[in-house]
Amino acid sequence: YLNYRVPRTRKQIFETLIKGLQRLEYRGYDSAGVAIDGNNNEDKERYIRLIKKRGKVKALDEELYKQDGMDLKADFETHFGIAHTRWATHGVPNAVNSHPQRSDKRNEFVVIHNGIITNYKDLRKFLETKGYEFESETDTETIPKLVKYMYDNRETEEISFSALVERVIQQLEGAFALVFKSIHYPGEAVAARRGSPLLIGVRSKYKLSTEQIPILYRTCNIENVKNICKTRMKRLDSSTCLHAIGDKAVEFFFASDASAIIEHTNRVIFLEDDDIAAVADGKLSIHRLKRSASDDPSRAIQTLQMELQQIMKGNFSAFMQKEIFEQPESVVNTMRGRVNFETKSVLLGGLKDHLKEIRRCRRLIIIGCGTSYHAAVATRQVLEELTELPVMVELASDFLDRNTPVFRDDVSFFISQSGETADTLMALRYCKDRRALTVGITNTVGSSISRETDCGVHINAGPEIGVASTKAYTSQFISLVMFGLMMSEDRISLQNRRQEIISGLQTLPEMIKEVLSLDEKIHDLALELYKQRSLLVMGRGYNYATCLEGALKIKEITYMHSEGILAGELKHGPLALVDKHMPVIMVIMKDPCFTKCQNALQQVIARQGRPIILSSREDTESSKFAYKTIELPHTVDCLQGVLSVIPLQLLSFHLAVLRGYDVDFPRNLAKSVTVE
Ligand code: F6R
Repeated sequence: YLNYRVPRTRKQIFETLIKGLQRLEYRGYDSAGVAIDGNNNEDKERYIRLIKKRGKVKALDEELYKQDGMDLKADFETHFGIAHTRWATHGVPNAVNSHPQRSDKRNEFVVIHNGIITNYKDLRKFLETKGYEFESETDTETIPKLVKYMYDNRETEEISFSALVERVIQQLEGAFALVFKSIHYPGEAVAARRGSPLLIGVRSKYKLSTEQIPILYRTCNIENVKNICKTRMKRLDSSTCLHAIGDKAVEFFFASDASAIIEHTNRVIFLEDDDIAAVADGKLSIHRLKRSASDDPSRAIQTLQMELQQIMKGNFSAFMQKEIFEQPESVVNTMRGRVNFETKSVLLGGLKDHLKEIRRCRRLIIIGCGTSYHAAVATRQVLEELTELPVMVELASDFLDRNTPVFRDDVSFFISQSGETADTLMALRYCKDRRALTVGITNTVGSSISRETDCGVHINAGPEIGVASTKAYTSQFISLVMFGLMMSEDRISLQNRRQEIISGLQTLPEMIKEVLSLDEKIHDLALELYKQRSLLVMGRGYNYATCLEGALKIKEITYMHSEGILAGELKHGPLALVDKHMPVIMVIMKDPCFTKCQNALQQVIARQGRPIILSSREDTESSKFAYKTIELPHTVDCLQGVLSVIPLQLLSFHLAVLRGYDVDFPRNLAKSVTVE
């Protein structure tokens, strides 16, 4: 938040920053921090004050008022403060790992970051050779240190803050939305994005100089960190900036989401990838290194009409729906920096040191509850194939009830979105007591499961708010497949299969988009089904887990009875349920179980059932017998479950809405089940 010629007390600045963070807390909330000017603007010696705290934003808020020598009434005519709430990706949640991250003990440069820097290890190595000492485990810390490096090695005394940042972002790989603050550039802000959202809100009582900010391009010849200072800059002039006419009072709000700023202004500029926005002397300019994807030569100030609640959910009516539609990106985030599609290799950093031990183990035991358990069921077959080890898949509660024998040469996996599920945690302690290696697969860095396991994988799906788990399932699924691929790296006989799966992973995000485009069709199906009392979901092989997971989604948010049935068990009981009144969803994909699924289909038809078939687009057979067909793109057999579950996620969502239920907060259920 930057106020230019708008007098504000420190308390007001805090309140603006903290309120903004609280609005973003739904996206992640393990730690938070702020950076503000330590002294009044008139003071000669400047310093930046950093205050960071583990826990919710409320804890940070309380901490601010406990600081020594913090004059809350101090007036700032111009001031730039930054704040951040973190959902850890690298490094456990604690004050040191939280943001802002800093360049050095003097806090010359401080940075807040949303996203993941995938080449941070190389950057860190480079900076360490230059004498920089790192204090956190974060990928982000490389950024303020790199800016300081650029600043200390600048060619000319005068270099603009934005030119420095421009040099830095060219060295970064991965995804980021960044905001920079520095003691060398008081009252100035620079922000940049690639892959992660970033917008700027503008507020002024006075007329603004323009409604369209032209984009500036710079010429540069940057190749690597060493010759980075050779950038030639074009000077910015005030006609290319946005400011309040007559240089009057103006405030700028930088945020990764409009919900953080909507109570201050509804006039916003959405930045595009590779945009660099800078405020200096109360003037905002935007420039780029390359032509923008949209080729739009300017960024317009837009007026948002939305309500706060709506903005947090984007254009979606519920978090669950938003999270279902996030899957093309969340699966990419799960694979980012781990799957190399060129060399067809997979590296899970959190497991690599234990790989030898895992390869030598007696068996793999995969343990979870609910949806997380289903992710284990879904990948069991491919894990057996790729690891050539026996794989046990266990519900945590049952595993404990049975006092299951566990040995020190077992490897036990604990799958959990929250990382806090009591049953899973107890199963983890049970295996630990028996000296088995413990591996966590969670979505929450710093959670109990990720802390207590020997090693693990963070699925990087981003915070999941809806109680019904959706994107975590597909990311858990992919994490387990990646583990199998890493295990089979040097198995010559498996190379073709590995390549097939890795190519399948590469095309998965696009295929997920195709599946999501069936939403309207699925809504129409929900219109036909929502008054039913019961729904069966049937399949086998790789797609049995899809049936279990689809049925769980349906029962937990629509309160309809639903059962996931293994088609191979049909004749052993469930067939008795089938008649012309019972809707039966059948998952029939073009895989090794196709013929057997056709048999099940015939049995359902013979009992006058009306099958609704989720089929593969390559299948011309099944639809002849179907009451309704939903055709899905075809991928590698062991990955098909990532696609086939999505129509069932969508169906459960539409059924729940049509039945008038609160999709995000189903009765009797909690997001994190911390009791047995
Ligand atoms: C279903 C659902 C639950 C969870 C289960 C385990 O949609 O969300 O079945 O999967 O409570 O939770 P985590 O994965 O947090 O251990």
